[in-house]
Amino acid sequence: MHVPLIQREGFILRPWDQTDATALVKHANNPRVAAQLRDGFPYPYTPGDAKRWLEMVGNNREDVILAIEVRGEAAGGIGLHGMKDVYKYNSEIGYWLSETHWNKGIITEAVRAMVTYAFEETPWLRLFACIYENNPASMRVLEKNGFALEAIHRKAVMKGGLMMDEHLYALLKDQWSG
Ligand SMILES: CC(C)(COP(=O)(O)OP(=O)(O)OC[C@H]1O[C@@H](n2cnc3c(N)ncnc32)[C@H](O)[C@@H]1OP(=O)(O)O)[C@@H](O)C(=O)NCCC(=O)NCCS
Repeated sequence: MHVPLIQREGFILRPWDQTDATALVKHANNPRVAAQLRDGFPYPYTPGDAKRWLEMVGNNREDVILAIEVRGEAAGGIGLHGMKDVYKYNSEIGYWLSETHWNKGIITEAVRAMVTYAFEETPWLRLFACIYENNPASMRVLEKNGFALEAIHRKAVMKGGLMMDEHLYALLKDQWSG
């Protein structure tokens, strides 16, 4: 998949680079970030984890996986992960941001940019995201971008020793206002 470079006020979405390892560890090594993500994003987040991530994204040709650069360093990530088989027109959106930059509107704008990219430049027709029940900020980000709550998967998630509901949000290209 072609990887775009998207510039907005206050941040840039761009491909990851091997030189991002130090910034990645600095911003990703936070239990409050890891708590909202899948277990593949660990806490503590070590230089070895950063190396594995940068190798993985360097070899990935299917998904759109971008760093969020803020003030000259990679301070978060956002990605679109395409599904297969009968779900091939679906893509899952995922994102995280360094706590240093929370609540400045960055992810709202980053999601807006990725939705525009997905619907204007790729065949995907449905974007979705899976949010744990204790993450109202992420739900708000999606709602501000026109995603609708489609389902609550009861006790679907085991994270940090807690069984939690997962909220499934989706946006259809047909209903996207652009
Ligand atoms: C969730 C996350 C991505 C949000 O990023 P962000 O750049 O801070 O988001 P924004 O500033 O664009 O928007 C956050 C919105 O949530 C609101 N919000 C923040 N904390 C909240 C809370 N506890 N309850 C309700 N709303 C909250 C903010 O007020 C803002 O809404 P508003 O613009 O209507 O005021 C960021 O906190 C993060 O990386 N968290 C850890 C990883 C994660 O949760 N990833 C998503 C997994 S689904």
